[in-house]
Amino acid sequence: MGLFIIFISKAILQSLTTKGPMVWPIFGTFPTIAINASNLYEWGSKALIKSGGTFYYRGLWMGGTHGMVTSDPVKIEYMLKTNFKNFPKGKAYKERFYDFLGDGIFNADDELWKTQRRVANAEMHSTRFIRFSMNSIKTLVHDKLLKLLDAKKGCVIDLQDVLLRFTFDNTCAVAFGVDSGCLDVELPEIPFAKAFEKVTFMVLMRFLSPRYLWKPLKFFKIGFEKTMQEAVKVVHDFAEKTVRERKKELLYNKEGIKGTSRCDLLSRLIIMEQDKKEKDTSSVGLSWFFWLIAKNPLVETRILDEIYDILQQRGKPYKENQENVVFTYDELRNMTYLQAAISESLRLYPPVSFDHKEPQEDDVFPDGTPVKKGARVLYMMYGMARMESLWGKDCCEYRPERWIKNGEFVWESQFKYTVFNAGPRLCVGKKFAYMQMKMIAASILLRYRLKLVEGHKVCPKVNTTLYMKYGLLVTMEPRAKLID
Ligand SMILES: *[C@@H]1O[C@H](CO)[C@@H](O)[C@H](O)[C@H]1NC(C)=O
Ligand SMILES: *[C@@H]1O[C@H](CO)[C@@H](O)[C@H](O)[C@H]1NC(C)=O
Ligand SMILES: *[C@@H]1O[C@H](CO)[C@@H](O)[C@H](O)[C@H]1NC(C)=O
Repeated sequence: MGLFIIFISKAILQSLTTKGPMVWPIFGTFPTIAINASNLYEWGSKALIKSGGTFYYRGLWMGGTHGMVTSDPVKIEYMLKTNFKNFPKGKAYKERFYDFLGDGIFNADDELWKTQRRVANAEMHSTRFIRFSMNSIKTLVHDKLLKLLDAKKGCVIDLQDVLLRFTFDNTCAVAFGVDSGCLDVELPEIPFAKAFEKVTFMVLMRFLSPRYLWKPLKFFKIGFEKTMQEAVKVVHDFAEKTVRERKKELLYNKEGIKGTSRCDLLSRLIIMEQDKKEKDTSSVGLSWFFWLIAKNPLVETRILDEIYDILQQRGKPYKENQENVVFTYDELRNMTYLQAAISESLRLYPPVSFDHKEPQEDDVFPDGTPVKKGARVLYMMYGMARMESLWGKDCCEYRPERWIKNGEFVWESQFKYTVFNAGPRLCVGKKFAYMQMKMIAASILLRYRLKLVEGHKVCPKVNTTLYMKYGLLVTMEPRAKLID
């Protein structure tokens, strides 16, 4: 994930077909990319449209990756499902990611990850888990998020920042049972959160650099490897402090965390970070959703109508106690239009906007396109959403109605809508992610109207996740009256 961006920032694109981006002599596609780097997403989308869905590239710098960029659901289905065994995550991924655990328990233990995924999957669909996580989300939304918004009403806030804090707080609560304090009204800087982000970014830097660069840097503790080790220390210190404070709980925890060595804790942090990434994507997804809602009042009205209809079914008790409405699981499940509105914003602004696969052996796609071992096949969700051939003439419009047929929400093909990955790697938390997003969206929209700060520029940042580059500055205006 996100490797596309890294590769783009270092590699030179060169199309091998006449249909791809313009190829300059000697420099390949470099000048074209350099000019459009700040607008990479739009550029990539247009290049895909122009090429009819697939173009080749060749990097001439640092490791010389090569391969193709595609938006073709047939090829994506082939990689993610039909022949997914031939398209694993690359070796490079593993080496760079796990290395910083030293000889930690994750090294080379594929089976462990498979088991964990199986367990996680079963767990996430159990009633017990759904009840537990619904409760924790409810508590966090009502005791923290809504309180914070209430304290800040009428002031300019960065809603993206608030939603990311929400994620971090939620993760800390679930993984450690500690309150990170991220959502306190003063919106404090959390050194641990910062260090944590740094560590993950540094792992990314390792991807960016060839082995012969980062290995020596690591050995001599210089450059980004120095920053990394400092950040790891902050994370370690937090872990140790947590262990000291919660030794008993950890030792006798039902989940069976035995022994509380650094390594165990750090491992747990890594799992948590992966988990956080999945949820970070819901925060980022929601930021784009709120932005689109603020720009599309008709959609907002339809969402509110649906919420009111559902609340009407509660009858009298609800009317007497409007401002304390806590949505139930069943009510959220019934919010079809909201589901469509969220899906539609994830389509246009997929939080993970690129992914890539590497075939282990030479292969041929169902349409006859050959792909060589060692090549990379990148697929670009952001561009796919903007292709008429996939989504029709109104592909660039925000139109939740496209997800509703005869009053029912209808899924699109996983391979055309790869927001949650697809095939055997379909995101295990998909159903839960929707519940969480609907809970936050409905709870906020019921109480507040978002007003965008005039002149504030909203655009995507080039990074692994489709963050808003300058955040989402809004004021939250309390709705005069919920409902009569
Ligand atoms: C790339 O940049 C050039 C020059 O700024 C601009 O004319 C062109 O429209 C850009 N292409 C895309 C796809 O944004
Ligand atoms: C959800 O919708 C179904 C079917 O319309 C309805 O029977 C049920 O009462 C609704 N549940 C809630 C909690 O609103
Ligand atoms: C990507 O995100 C990380 C962590 O938030 C940040 O430190 C880094 O500067 C970002 N990279 C780019 C290219 O914006």
